[in-house]
Amino acid sequence: MRVPNETDLSLFAVRRQALAEYVRDQVPEAEQPCAVVLCGTPEYLRNSDVEHAYRPDSDVYYLTGFEEPDAVLVLVVEPEQERLVMFVRPKDKERELWTGYRAGPEGAKRDYGADEAFPLATLSGRLPKLLVGTRTVIGAWGRRADDDQKLIAAYEGARHKARKRGVFPTVMRDVRELLGPLRQHKTADEVSRLRAAVQATAAGHRAAMAACRPGVSEHVLYAQLTSAFLSAGAKRHGYSPIVASGPNACVLHYVDNQRTIEAGDLVLIDAGAEYGMYTADVTRTFPASGRFTEAQRAVYEVVLEAQRLALEATRPGATLPEIDRITREALAAGLVKLGLLDGDPAKLAKKVKQEDGTEKAPLDRFYPHSTSHFLGLDVHDAGPYHDGTDPTALQPGMVVTIEPGLYCQPDDEQCPAAYRGIGVRIEDDVLVTSSGHENLTADIPKSVEAIEAAVGGG
Ligand code: GLY
Ligand code: MN
Ligand code: MN
Repeated sequence: MRVPNETDLSLFAVRRQALAEYVRDQVPEAEQPCAVVLCGTPEYLRNSDVEHAYRPDSDVYYLTGFEEPDAVLVLVVEPEQERLVMFVRPKDKERELWTGYRAGPEGAKRDYGADEAFPLATLSGRLPKLLVGTRTVIGAWGRRADDDQKLIAAYEGARHKARKRGVFPTVMRDVRELLGPLRQHKTADEVSRLRAAVQATAAGHRAAMAACRPGVSEHVLYAQLTSAFLSAGAKRHGYSPIVASGPNACVLHYVDNQRTIEAGDLVLIDAGAEYGMYTADVTRTFPASGRFTEAQRAVYEVVLEAQRLALEATRPGATLPEIDRITREALAAGLVKLGLLDGDPAKLAKKVKQEDGTEKAPLDRFYPHSTSHFLGLDVHDAGPYHDGTDPTALQPGMVVTIEPGLYCQPDDEQCPAAYRGIGVRIEDDVLVTSSGHENLTADIPKSVEAIEAAVGGG
């Protein structure tokens, strides 16, 4: 597969060309030509005439750089050439007075490389005609029911138009299978955006640690994160931040962020800034009063050691399940040392099929999530994670998180009281390089000493 190189053509045109080449290479010849049809994210109403904060669709952005709501991208991939057709909101002086600039079809051609562009309202009439002559429609099937309906109507419309004479689509393929392998390899431009996201994220985590003291609300730390992210040039959070104090740290996706932090709490912050559409994903856990208790420190050091081993294993050729296994065994060994589990660490960590078909391990009681995911435009970024048989082997240019944790649930009566309610996660963002890896988030305080020095402004 050809990985985009943005020096020879504009950033987005190179990606369209790479996708087209990959489609020609991967789709059987009898199923070509193909049309990639991607519907951008719509705006969602929050209440009355107020919308939720808008975030453009990652795939549409990746291929065009276009950030307006609702755009539809059609990339017709023919044997010798590809053609970009875009459907966008029309120019509208009245609407632009209220909600700002729209590129319109002319702008889509002039500034975003569309060969043709039309107002969105013409989509249902024009899309079937665009699909005539193609044999496969490549879409994000199943992502949004509304978009599926639009695409299926056009797929069926093309059959009607061409059934007596001509070629019409008879195959549907998923775009994620074809675009994922491209998105998975970050180019220099993408890595520089991730570095900027990391810089803003580091500022946010440091500010939140410095502002933490007993009696302060989780919300104040959330405000510190947001202020530092935006001040550093980030556009928004890459996902809803988790500011979880005390027992809330044991809720994996806690996002309420309203509790008053108490002396003796640990505070777990999982937050990442989004810069140039790319997001960081970082977790740090620290004591609210600036000093770990003995039990907190013991758990923290187990997670830190598991993360060290996982990072050491992150290099070209390694797989995420392998890194997960190393992490799990280290966590289990640590829990055995602390007396929280009993037995052989490898066995405690290994998932075994249960009668109900699920897979479980004794360690899951303390570590219910996995260690890594890909990172980029999306916090849980495009795969593939496996090819159906084997897990994806890491390659230079891929970016993954390494995020072990341990959570002793507050109501776990088998757990000694001193440990109950302790939740620790440590998460870094890692670029795989030809010689191993680069930990992009290594500068954010993480050792016991660095954490204790950073909390409450030192
Ligand atoms: N912030 C979500 C995650 O760590 O996967
Ligand atoms: Mn993560
Ligand atoms: Mn995270």
